[in-house]
Amino acid sequence: MPVVSRSPGEAAVLRERAARVLAGGVSSDARRLPNGTLFVDRAEGAHLYDVDGKRYIDYVLGQGPALLGHAAGPVADAVAAQVRRGVSYSAQHRDEVELAETLVRVVPGAEKVRFNSVGSEAVHGALRLARGHTGRSKVVKFEGHYHGWLDPVLYSVHPPVDAAGPARQPRPVPGTGGQQLSSAGDLLLAPWNDLDALTELMERHGDDVAAVIMEPVLCNTGVIMPAEGYLEAVHDLCRRTGALLVFDEVITGFRLSLGGAQEYLGVTPDLAVFGKAIAGGMQLSAFAGRADVMDRISSGQVAHAGTFNSHPVAVAAARATLEVLERDRDVIYPRVFHLGALLAEGLREAAREAGVPLLVTGPGPMIQTYVTDAGDVRDYRDFARTDLAAAARLHGLLMDRGVNIVPRGLWFLSTAHTEEDVTETVAAAADALRAL
Ligand SMILES: Cc1ncc(COP(=O)(O)O)c(C=O)c1O
Repeated sequence: MPVVSRSPGEAAVLRERAARVLAGGVSSDARRLPNGTLFVDRAEGAHLYDVDGKRYIDYVLGQGPALLGHAAGPVADAVAAQVRRGVSYSAQHRDEVELAETLVRVVPGAEKVRFNSVGSEAVHGALRLARGHTGRSKVVKFEGHYHGWLDPVLYSVHPPVDAAGPARQPRPVPGTGGQQLSSAGDLLLAPWNDLDALTELMERHGDDVAAVIMEPVLCNTGVIMPAEGYLEAVHDLCRRTGALLVFDEVITGFRLSLGGAQEYLGVTPDLAVFGKAIAGGMQLSAFAGRADVMDRISSGQVAHAGTFNSHPVAVAAARATLEVLERDRDVIYPRVFHLGALLAEGLREAAREAGVPLLVTGPGPMIQTYVTDAGDVRDYRDFARTDLAAAARLHGLLMDRGVNIVPRGLWFLSTAHTEEDVTETVAAAADALRAL
């Protein structure tokens, strides 16, 4: 479709109007980009068009959800059809049973499911359930991992390192003003990918720990795979201490593989949380896991509610998304892995030619670019040592050249991206890297 600039400068006008009526000019802090704010007019496939008609190859994909690309036909059709049958019932419906059956079929650890709207509340549900099941209060969280914006977990996502304590015994650093700091009393913090440090922590506190929660592939602080054998060992440690292992698969779910990171990495948690890609861009989340644990909810022992839970339009979008993913899994996953690998290799080559020390990691459906001389990034402290200011500048240079990525250097791939998109992206990135 030709790009027509209908009203040049509209973004600048909207930015000013937004600044007057939206706090900070945005509706989520994540949209306060280091280099301005993107005002989108529409999104199709792998492309975004801003209000001034500029086209971007989009690797943000709504922060991950649009695995099938924006406005994917089957998802758009399902949403339109459901809107005409009623938007919100707050009652049970046929489609949510079928969707739950699909999750139980494709996600290894999902024996029973509950739906919510967004990832943060499904994390909240899973952790409450873990506490209700074990009768214990403490939760182990890892430095650099993000589990939503609610008080009990918004600690030490990207803390200032000089305030964060020793690397092997980090302390919880609050993520925001206004946080209910008593919640820190129930939180134990550990460095990720360090089994000895976690073992020592669990030796001291294991009897009080309800849950160990993690992003099984860390995607909010670089894209970092678990070290070989690490997840298996954490799983064993949880078994020995009676803590539940909770995978936050809000990013990895359905993206890394149809059954999420737990299928891809072969380690089954007790509970898992899903969001983002589950519904192709509509707001749906879920937590799912062992039937005996989920039955604490069935029995009324642990409360779980929400006006919009299993929202019919979101469920319709999820059913359409999962139908495509399940039917075409043998084509879809190899494709996003291939495109991600192609992009990663192209970016490495472009950086070599430009003389920029760029480390590119990640399995393919998501990749990460770090500006650093380091050969590897294994945890938050490594991430914090990379050149974050240069990464922010690179983000701006890419935006100028029509490539949209998550500012900290995260790139999501979709089935709508093509090899031509990748070639165009690498050319734009080569130019951006030369300018860095
Ligand atoms: C791993 C992870 N967990 C939880 C959340 C919170 O999800 P939401 O923003 O839908 O509340 C996010 C959001 O980015 C996430 O990346």
